[in-house]
Amino acid sequence: MLRIAFLISGTGTNLQYIINKINEKELNCVIKMVISDNPKAIGLTKANLQGIPSYVLDKNTYGENIGDEIIKVIKDKVDLIVLGGFLSILKGEILDIYKNKIINIHPSLIPKFCGKGMYGIKVHEAVLNSGDTITGCTLHFVSPDVDMGTIILQKSLNITGEESPKTLQEKVLKEEHRCLLEGIRLISEGKV
Ligand code: GAR
Repeated sequence: MLRIAFLISGTGTNLQYIINKINEKELNCVIKMVISDNPKAIGLTKANLQGIPSYVLDKNTYGENIGDEIIKVIKDKVDLIVLGGFLSILKGEILDIYKNKIINIHPSLIPKFCGKGMYGIKVHEAVLNSGDTITGCTLHFVSPDVDMGTIILQKSLNITGEESPKTLQEKVLKEEHRCLLEGIRLISEGKV
């Protein structure tokens, strides 16, 4: 069974969705641990409620070396690292050791509105300011170039006239959940 380390920085709605799908037996995987770079991440409570071991690797302590600390925590325990709203940028050895085993969900249609500094609500503000009429989300492998790794799946949606960054974020999040589920399932079945 595919063993997952789920990395978060905040609310963890992607985490909760995947937990639910595993509990509902729609996904044949196990989340072995949740790692947060933010001690105040609400998602940590979601992990604790499910009895999933959680670890805090504070970005203020580890900074650019956070990847090395993650390696120590996950060593030999997981097959896939899922970044679900994890905002630290991974660098160094972890990207070699876990090549094609780290995936990230991003709230835009890459190559648009991505890269360093483009995360969370900022993405949706930029999308609305651009006047684009379509947005969506992207599931991709993590590589040294931020948000530029190979794309696994994308889901798109139309932007209506009345959208605010917040309402758009909520709609895109729903697509993210589906995209992440589909991607993890494909990986767990050896189809990616
Ligand atoms: C999600 O929208 C995710 O795509 C985004 O942070 C949010 C986390 O939500 N990640 C990025 O912007 C990374 N570049 P969640 O904590 O509720 O899952």
